[in-house]
Amino acid sequence: MSEKLKPSAEGRKKLHIQTWGCQMNVYDSQRMVGLLRPLGYEVADNPDEADLVILNTCHIREKAAEKVYSALGRLNKHKKARQQAGNDMCIAVAGCVAQAEGAEIMARAPQVDLVFGPQSYHKLPEMIAKAARQTGDILETEFDVVEKFDVLATPRNIDGYAAFVTIQEGCDKFCTFCVVPYTRGAEVSRPVDQISAEVRSLVMQGVREVTLLGQNVNAYQGAAPSGAPTESFGLGALIRHLAKIDGLERIRFTTSHPRDMDDDLIAAIGEEKKLMPYLHLPVQSGSDKILKAMNRGHRAEDYVRLVEKIRAVRPDLALSGDFIVGFPGEDEQAFEETMALIREVDYASAFSFKYSRRPGTPGASMTKQISETEKSDRLQALQTLLETQKQNFNASCVGKVLPILLESPGRVAGQVNGRSPYLQAVHLEAPENLIGEIVSVRIIEKKSNSLTGLLKSSPSP
Ligand code: 5AD
Ligand code: SF4
Repeated sequence: MSEKLKPSAEGRKKLHIQTWGCQMNVYDSQRMVGLLRPLGYEVADNPDEADLVILNTCHIREKAAEKVYSALGRLNKHKKARQQAGNDMCIAVAGCVAQAEGAEIMARAPQVDLVFGPQSYHKLPEMIAKAARQTGDILETEFDVVEKFDVLATPRNIDGYAAFVTIQEGCDKFCTFCVVPYTRGAEVSRPVDQISAEVRSLVMQGVREVTLLGQNVNAYQGAAPSGAPTESFGLGALIRHLAKIDGLERIRFTTSHPRDMDDDLIAAIGEEKKLMPYLHLPVQSGSDKILKAMNRGHRAEDYVRLVEKIRAVRPDLALSGDFIVGFPGEDEQAFEETMALIREVDYASAFSFKYSRRPGTPGASMTKQISETEKSDRLQALQTLLETQKQNFNASCVGKVLPILLESPGRVAGQVNGRSPYLQAVHLEAPENLIGEIVSVRIIEKKSNSLTGLLKSSPSP
């Protein structure tokens, strides 16, 4: 074994993972820990004690890539210190920055030993072995999604009551601002049986809530279980199937595209009580001109009608969205149309960003790019409006009795932290032995980023 992956003094190998970006990256990082555990790796909180450091990166906006390079600079110091002490450190860059800029990372950061994209995680043990045999730097950015799902289907150890499960990966939509179709590849869905086995295993480990993940989760079209009346299941059918699992209490899914919100899924939202009344449905812009330039494939009006249709079957539905300001060609009128759409839809929460030019995407070479100052001004106005809506929504919960999943002990003794159906953080006084249960809580106060509640009832036995 090379110096690089020699176990540290205590005998066990230490792994430190830093994760940026979306929930899919959080999930993938958990999976990498699971894959490396049989090889003798245990998780280290600090990079300076780690034999292997993995940076799981995000490429969606440019700041993320810059953060990776500064993290690599800091890691280089730890690596040198360890080398001086007779240990080494293997540095790996994973995720979408690795996929998009693999060769550049190798050239710009010679301290990096391994670079691999999101479709290569299942090959991690093999890559580590290669690095240990010291066969030089390794760059692995092939697309092998199906195989990845097969290998990564092994259950992991879970430390909470809510877990993510990837059901779909990749994107065929090619929005003109977005790198995902290039870094994550084409849309691929996992078979229903594989997902169901993973969810059952999570429930056996105590999980009560799962969030089904996919870059385009509602484009899900996975192989149906044997004996099913159709060959494949869409997301609606998958949700109904998973809802039959005893012990699983809550289901969520993210992120959806308005174009893939089919009638069966809308029906499932209306009927399936385990599905939480909270939907992340990005629209990006409220201007038809910009939506067209973004290649979103729908108009603002289509989105508003869609929201009405979903609210008609689930009146308690809370909406969340993503917005981009300052896309090329966005004039004052286009921006005002986005503000008008936000006023009309009324969001419970939202993410909003300044447009970031991603190399290789059509948006990057469009004329009429918007100045940074204009982007900043618009983002501020938009976020002020979204924040007001969020605070109003939170205030509207005061006085209501909500089912809260108790997740962890609070900072104050006797207090417990939980989540509402709308993903709000809720703090209340409750015995710690109720953690992991869903209890009825009367919401009594709204704070700026959380709610306070009173325990109304313990769960039925
Ligand atoms: N610039 C700004 N925001 C972007 N997003 C994706 N690509 C870009 C970009 N180039 C945002 C979109 C998407 C979310 C995950 O990130 O709003 O829905
Ligand atoms: Fe990116 Fe558009 Fe695909 Fe979402 S739907 S991942 S924004 S290309």
